[in-house]
Amino acid sequence: MQRSEMKTEREKILEVKDLHTYFCDERAFPVKAVEGLTFHLLKGEVLGIVGESGCGKSLTALSVLQILPPGAKIVKGEILFKGKDLIGLSQKQLNTIRGTKISMIFQEPSSYLNPVLSVGYQVAEALSAHTGQSIRDAMKKARQMFKEVGIPDPEQRVHNYPHEMSGGQKQRVMTAMALINEPDIIIADEPTTSLDVTVQAQIINLFKKLLKDHSSSIVFISHDLPLVSEIADRIIVMYAGMNFEEAPVDVLIKDPKHPYTKKLLESIPKESSSWQKMKTIPGAVPDPARKPGGCPFHPRCDYAEKDCNQRIPFMTQVDDTHFTACYHYEKIKNSNKQNI
Ligand SMILES: Nc1ncnc2c1ncn2[C@@H]1O[C@H](COP(=O)(O)OP(=O)(O)OP(=O)(O)O)[C@@H](O)[C@H]1O
Ligand SMILES: [Mg+2]
Repeated sequence: MQRSEMKTEREKILEVKDLHTYFCDERAFPVKAVEGLTFHLLKGEVLGIVGESGCGKSLTALSVLQILPPGAKIVKGEILFKGKDLIGLSQKQLNTIRGTKISMIFQEPSSYLNPVLSVGYQVAEALSAHTGQSIRDAMKKARQMFKEVGIPDPEQRVHNYPHEMSGGQKQRVMTAMALINEPDIIIADEPTTSLDVTVQAQIINLFKKLLKDHSSSIVFISHDLPLVSEIADRIIVMYAGMNFEEAPVDVLIKDPKHPYTKKLLESIPKESSSWQKMKTIPGAVPDPARKPGGCPFHPRCDYAEKDCNQRIPFMTQVDDTHFTACYHYEKIKNSNKQNI
């Protein structure tokens, strides 16, 4: 049975409701980087979040863990982990959740690994900080984790410093660190973006193995729709800080109900799954400080009507599992020749 066909009533392990994360600095108006985002993650599921650069994917992930960059603030919304709102918890309470219940693989591992500590120590420290066990004992598990994520010669490699490892190896170290406390949720933000295609495939296979062995729930973030569709059960498509479409992966690919998703799919070359060779969609994702009125996609949209610059679209239910934020979705002709 396909993962997406599993229709049993599964627990919503994470629910993000109407999330608004703004940059509020000395500017007269806030920069609305995430604006009214709603999604959920089921237990044991892989949820893909896709969208062009700057649409708010990383900020969404950082909002869930409340590790926001300076100036960013959650101004509205709920983040329910197993039904309990994480917003408003103390730093101490949040620290017990970060890393142990929800862990993150960051977009740029080099910025998150400490250059003056060995990678093995850093992974062991992540365990020891939460369990209180000695670094010496935690090192044993760190070595096991290195083996599990496919770092060759783990006995030796634990002693390496980040600069002694390749990009793919650093991603694996980050993955080992994210997994060592056996969290309920892993948020992987562009875990393969800076890697070449062969290493990308290895990391994706690693995730598939981890899914099988640990039955984790994963939020997999990427701008690469073909890549996400290889691993996700369900996908949400983000644009300008909003959710434009949500559907099981096969439905989204065969029958997109948002003009933006349709454009994304059309831009994928038929012969290759490499995003690098994709056609670009004319125009650019709007600067969150200067979003156009109404639907933020209307200036780039082939289906735009007179009302599209007036009304902000809300998510409409197309069927049981399919939602779109386009008032004119019924006009979309499914001319999409499936490229994935
Ligand atoms: N300090 C800041 N002040 C104002 N706006 C910011 C600041 N940092 C980021 N932004 C804006 O917030 C928006 C969301 O950024 P985010 O990093 O979440 O995008 P992303 O979808 O992860 O992009 P990428 O695919 O490039 O990683 C972007 O448009 C960015 O310009
Ligand atoms: Mg990002």
